[in-house]
Amino acid sequence: INPVEKKLIDMHEQATELYSHILMNTEVGQPALDYLHERGLTDETIKFYRLGFAPKEQILNKFLENKKVQYDDMRKSGLFIETDDGKLRDRFFDRIMFPIKNEFGNLIGFSGRVMDKNASTAKYLNSPETDIFNKRKVLFNLSDAKTTIQKQKNVILFEGFMDVISAYQSGVTNGIASMGTSLTTEQIATIKRLTPSVSVCYDGDAPGQNAINRALSLLGNTDLSLGVIQMPEGIDPDEYRKQYGEERFASYMHSAYESPLSFKMRYFKLNRNLDNETDQISYINDVLQEVAKISDPLERDIYVNQLSDQFNLNKLDLTNRMNTYIQKNN
Ligand code: GTP
Ligand code: MN
Ligand code: MN
Ligand code: MN
Ligand code: MN
Repeated sequence: INPVEKKLIDMHEQATELYSHILMNTEVGQPALDYLHERGLTDETIKFYRLGFAPKEQILNKFLENKKVQYDDMRKSGLFIETDDGKLRDRFFDRIMFPIKNEFGNLIGFSGRVMDKNASTAKYLNSPETDIFNKRKVLFNLSDAKTTIQKQKNVILFEGFMDVISAYQSGVTNGIASMGTSLTTEQIATIKRLTPSVSVCYDGDAPGQNAINRALSLLGNTDLSLGVIQMPEGIDPDEYRKQYGEERFASYMHSAYESPLSFKMRYFKLNRNLDNETDQISYINDVLQEVAKISDPLERDIYVNQLSDQFNLNKLDLTNRMNTYIQKNN
């Protein structure tokens, strides 16, 4: 890290300390702390992730000025918004603060969550791109999960910070999350350096299912071995932990495992009525396209047989259709 980066990281360190102090030890932070307790997080977890609270009042600006931080460094940090007259205002206020670290454990950014469900602003506000914060590269929790990922030769990819944190609190410490965006090539390269296998555990709602499908396609272009941990309909991993407890959460993570193809066969049925011929045909085509990607001819044959039985179709026709997809893939 160069001197400029070091300054920016130091500022994030100071901001993290300040926000954490406000959350843990002050009156203004109490509602936020109650909120986190209400969601079932322990003080140990809150401290481990150094969660904090940015109050409504402007505080970070003054705080850093008193520490003799230069205006120009503050401007570059992403922690402020520059007004037209060149003043710096705190970017984050009235939000629960999730500090974000790079792969090496240096603090490089924040995501801030509103507590009020009905707030008219975005639920999560992230740091902007800076010299040290690159959303395409960041994987939340990677620095802390790295050792477990390498030891277990597996990483669990979650959708949100709260899911990763819930997993940690349940003793599942190989969880990471991207910044709410779909996976980038940089993130996939990082994952590949650490582990041969990835479990995708996204939310059990429609956006979550779509995101699993997209993640499987992106990860499917690599030699990573893939699995899906399917959440019950409508809930996300954090809600699962809240509802069923940490032990059940942990055992669910270890037992509920589905192959990518089995996920896709379920996924392709969503929003389709398989009693209707048009939907049947598009479903069968979707499945055959996936089966065509399998390299083992015997395995392909198993799925073709299943489709043939399920829809009472001629096996040769299905095989021919699949072969045209195989040729297109080559
Ligand atoms: P909680 O409601 O706190 O449990 O968050 P969640 O993780 O369940 O959120 P959700 O499933 O809605 O979204 C998954 C992830 O997408 C979040 O963890 C964020 O990283 C991201 N995200 C969600 N809402 C927003 C938003 O309004 N703005 C931005 N930038 N990211 C968001
Ligand atoms: Mn409390
Ligand atoms: Mn979601
Ligand atoms: Mn969610
Ligand atoms: Mn959630």
